[in-house]
Amino acid sequence: MTHILKTQNFIVVALTFCFLSCKSSVAQTASPSTTSYEQKVDSLMNLMTLQEKVGQTVMYSGSGAVTGPTVNKNFRTYIKDAEVGAMLNVYSAKATRDLQKLAVEETRLGIPLLFGYDVIHGFRTIFPINLGLAASWDLEDIEKGTRIAAEEASAVGIHWTFAPMVDIARDPRWGRISEGAGEDVYLGSKIAKAYVHGFQGDDLSKDNTILACAKHFVGYGAAQAGRDYHTVNMGHDELRNVYLPPFKAAVDAGVETFMTAFNELNGVPATANKFIFRDILRDEWNFKGFVVTDYTAINELIPHGFAKDQKHATKLAIEAGIDQDMMSSANRLHLADLVNEGEVDVALVNDACRRILLTKYKLGLFDDPYKYCNEQREKEVIYKPEFLEAARQSAAMCSVLLKNDEKVLPLDKNQTIALIGPLAKDKENIIGNWAAAGDRRGKAISVHQGIQEYLNDSKIIFSKGCDIEGDDESDFQNAINAAKGADKVVMVMGEDYDMSGEAACRTNIKLPGRQTDLIKAIRKAVPDKKIILVLMNGRPLDLSEEDMLADAILETWFPGTSGGYGVADVLFGKYNPSAKLPVTFPRTLGQVPIYYNMKNTGRPIPANNPKDDYKSNYLDSPNTPLYPFGHGLSYTNFEYSDVTLSANTIGFSDTLSASATITNTGDYDGYEVVQLYVHDKVGSITRPVKELKGFEKIFLKKGESKTVSFDITVEDLKFYNAEMKFDVEPGEFEIAIKGTSDFDFGQTFTLE
Ligand code: GLC
Repeated sequence: MTHILKTQNFIVVALTFCFLSCKSSVAQTASPSTTSYEQKVDSLMNLMTLQEKVGQTVMYSGSGAVTGPTVNKNFRTYIKDAEVGAMLNVYSAKATRDLQKLAVEETRLGIPLLFGYDVIHGFRTIFPINLGLAASWDLEDIEKGTRIAAEEASAVGIHWTFAPMVDIARDPRWGRISEGAGEDVYLGSKIAKAYVHGFQGDDLSKDNTILACAKHFVGYGAAQAGRDYHTVNMGHDELRNVYLPPFKAAVDAGVETFMTAFNELNGVPATANKFIFRDILRDEWNFKGFVVTDYTAINELIPHGFAKDQKHATKLAIEAGIDQDMMSSANRLHLADLVNEGEVDVALVNDACRRILLTKYKLGLFDDPYKYCNEQREKEVIYKPEFLEAARQSAAMCSVLLKNDEKVLPLDKNQTIALIGPLAKDKENIIGNWAAAGDRRGKAISVHQGIQEYLNDSKIIFSKGCDIEGDDESDFQNAINAAKGADKVVMVMGEDYDMSGEAACRTNIKLPGRQTDLIKAIRKAVPDKKIILVLMNGRPLDLSEEDMLADAILETWFPGTSGGYGVADVLFGKYNPSAKLPVTFPRTLGQVPIYYNMKNTGRPIPANNPKDDYKSNYLDSPNTPLYPFGHGLSYTNFEYSDVTLSANTIGFSDTLSASATITNTGDYDGYEVVQLYVHDKVGSITRPVKELKGFEKIFLKKGESKTVSFDITVEDLKFYNAEMKFDVEPGEFEIAIKGTSDFDFGQTFTLE
């Protein structure tokens, strides 16, 4: 029974609703169907004025966080005037209830608000940053952590997260590479689905599921020069075969909302781009949810040089299929006028309003607009011990062992370590950027605290040595003394959390400040001692010098609230590292963009003659990266053998089975991410030198063997061809099953 309608003709409206809800409640003997919601939405819209419909297309930011360039403190007035359909950056059961009451009890129709927030890799319990989560290649763990984020966020009144960010990114200068799943389409698409399922669950009407939002549509990660918000130009090949697929995966997973990208795409800003929002998202993909702009993005059509003023920008956005305006005030100020002046078809406003209202019905907000504002649940859910434990496990699963010469890791509990570096005792940066309502001090566990679970303080000699940034080397000598007094040296270094994320791009991807100099000083002072470098950073770094100086390197990204525990679990061998890079680490920024599945070119470097003239190479660097996509070591060894194919030739309706036996030949039990790669040797457009087409994470006890099989059909081999048709072409394919992307093929099959 709906109770939110307040109007002078209450009886009529209530009877209308009662009839519909009774009728639809009969229809809903099974489960609420969109049809009954659509009937209710149509009935409600028949009561709404144009201004009230426009109000649903407006979103403002509250004062719980600042995530954009402007603030507007008049949102309470706008809400009471039914000029707002959603709020962002408002959380807590109390704060959301307060604003919800304004909408529900002080407006004519009492339509509830949506509350959105950037729950990107956790809400209070913060998981590793998303680039780190991708390194786990563990879809179940990613979905589990996302479910936890939804549990905590929904407990504080949040209905909607602006995640997952599914932008493919191949430029480490771009700060937002930290928020996505890295460089690969297949891995990125699988992870997009895991996030959507984690946030939305299987029933949006439950009070612990929240709307997901695929962002930023589209091409944001291809910003020129890795500079945020910069221009994006790309051909159909890259757009169709690289940047669009993870968004299509999110649609296939049932994502309820999309967010526009800030960038222009081939001359047309995304926020007014009919081709991507109407032709592709709506017409080709049949997306039924609603589209919200990014923060003030409608207004930004003016500096883009695409709109002459705010009113013109408002018209362009709604005509491109954009349903809700985040923080521009454009829709609130101009949309009704544009309709009344015949500049905008009222049907466009009706469509936008309808999509937004339908989503509110799906969440159950018309049945109980306060269902997410439960202060008791808020107390019970936040920071549950099992959530913090899950974050600890994720931190361990996301840490990539980049090198481990002479098996210097795991550490020996009987040895004394010198613990050095600006991030060793850090609790401020460890939860990374976009850390929602995470606690940057009290709750976060530093690496030092994690190590203290394994070593008592008499075996830890701490010295910060230097800051993350700056030229101060006054503490170098203390650090050198600490190293001299220890058996091994553990250096915890990296970036500040706000050196990546939005508007946080770098033209230099080396360790900032004097950190590398400190490693050199330690190396020189104790040439025979083993140095273990533990990194916290939001992007691939140029580690060419560190690779020469350190005996072991563990990439932990920003490992989250329980990060110190998880990292220590890896350092001391409680967790045998299994993570694999989701993104390439270059030797030098000069190689960027560099990624594993590039094109071969017409003059590839011959493997047997790297110095051959007139080849596609550099005078001053190899073409190969320092650490490739899919790379990650274990404390044990995995051997791949017996790669067999069910056939050497397949037809278009056949399934090829490819299998390999993996044996744990080392001294530790552990997980291995088994990866399937394919190379389409000849195509109507050139094809990447290799493409990930499958992976499976397996556990092997020492000495144990398992056979992993992958089934391949023509669906797995399709791509957008020269005619931009999604199709497969006959011919020869190379195939391999490996534990990294760094290999040469040795087997083929033919499709005919
Ligand atoms: C920011 C980001 C976007 C985020 C939004 C709301 O500018 O680009 O990813 O969801 O604004 O905070």
